[in-house]
Amino acid sequence: MYGCDEKVLSFLNNQIWRINCKTIEAECKRVDDTILATLSGCNEKLFAPLIEKSDKVYLAEEDLSWVNKILKGNMGIFEGSCNNIGNIAKIRPSSMGGRSITYEIATSDGSKYLMKTMKRLENDNVEDKVMNYLSSLGLDFVPKYFCSIKYGGYLYSIITSYFEGIPAATFYINSAMEYMRGREGKKIGNAIGEKLALLHEALYNCREDFCKKEIVTNATIEKWISRIAWREKFLKERAENLGPEEKNMVYEALDSMEELKEISKGVIKNLVGRRLMRIHGDLHLYQIIVNGQEMYFIDFEGEPFKYPADKLDKETPERDIASLIRSIDYTAVMALQIINGLSLKDSISLIDDSVLSWEHTSSNEIITSYLNSVKKEIKEQLENFTTALAFWVFERATYEVIYETIAKTGYHLIPMNALIRMKEGKCPFVKQLL
Ligand SMILES: Nc1ncnc2c1ncn2[C@@H]1O[C@H](COP(=O)(O)OP(=O)(O)O)[C@@H](O)[C@H]1O
Ligand SMILES: [Mg+2]
Repeated sequence: MYGCDEKVLSFLNNQIWRINCKTIEAECKRVDDTILATLSGCNEKLFAPLIEKSDKVYLAEEDLSWVNKILKGNMGIFEGSCNNIGNIAKIRPSSMGGRSITYEIATSDGSKYLMKTMKRLENDNVEDKVMNYLSSLGLDFVPKYFCSIKYGGYLYSIITSYFEGIPAATFYINSAMEYMRGREGKKIGNAIGEKLALLHEALYNCREDFCKKEIVTNATIEKWISRIAWREKFLKERAENLGPEEKNMVYEALDSMEELKEISKGVIKNLVGRRLMRIHGDLHLYQIIVNGQEMYFIDFEGEPFKYPADKLDKETPERDIASLIRSIDYTAVMALQIINGLSLKDSISLIDDSVLSWEHTSSNEIITSYLNSVKKEIKEQLENFTTALAFWVFERATYEVIYETIAKTGYHLIPMNALIRMKEGKCPFVKQLL
């Protein structure tokens, strides 16, 4: 094992995809001109190939000749090869997230692709396999998969087709703003429901290892409940170091989590015997790109901080719908923020019956369209739909609190407040549990 020099560490710790952890172990290896940096801490493993030139450190994937080398398989330490795409002549960063960067890349003949490079090494990330499978079916609402590159057996990069468009979230924020101003906004919930039904049908019929169907047992139910218990413990520990005002809010959210968890224990026993399948797994409105009448689902990795569960854990289809319902709540808060020019906390306090009614109608549009479109084989599996949906809306909100806290997005108040409302019976979906 080798240490990393100061310049490399300071570069890595200044990135938005850094690991937010107090103790980090760093390892740097040099292979030819590439510095392979791996930083580990708090259950995460950051990986970045770097180049140091004239005293400056930068990401190797920004370098044309480096990218062409790994795509051609000419760098033994990276496995896989992308000989099905031509020589890359242009690389342009497209988005930078907390755990990955996407680039728009183009060949000299003008063909455009999306290159996603992971900044985490995870052995339960099978996004390449999922995309390859969906792409092989010719689905037109999923990016076409071209190839992927691995590092030490871990997924490092995926190349897919590139879609122009805006996130569905932007669409919903606009639609909420229109509603708040007394006008009717454009609707896309029908199309989302239809596409989701097709996606589930494709995943339901998948026979590969990562998507084999299973059955809900008592042990599955216990695992779902223990996810929530783990999250409560995590939050309780974090709450110790907060100021009094935020601490109160966290404790209130924790009370809701505990109460709804206990209620869920009894109710979701009804789901024993149901079918479990691979679903999208992290279907929020920033994972849908809209362009006119067209719509694309992206990011098939699953939830980044699914602890203590595994991204390979199968779930029931209602969970994707639950994630969308929760995402609609986020877009309402974002609309309130824009309209009123207020802080997140003050905007949340403006959620009233009228806003909740917009959320409910928008959610129902997706649900109705999904249920009307989904094929019989899946529909037959949707016994106890309202119970499952209620539980997943609650469970997804507990995940969101953890995600927003670990990723330090500043949005944790949105799901925390939603959990408090759920206990008060103000969420029409979770109400089914009470
Ligand atoms: N096929 C694509 N075409 C165009 N943009 C994309 C595509 N895939 C991803 N993006 C853009 O990159 C962002 C991050 O990609 P995503 O797969 O969601 O990564 P992450 O796992 O980091 O969320 C998306 O929000 C979207 O803006
Ligand atoms: Mg994403």
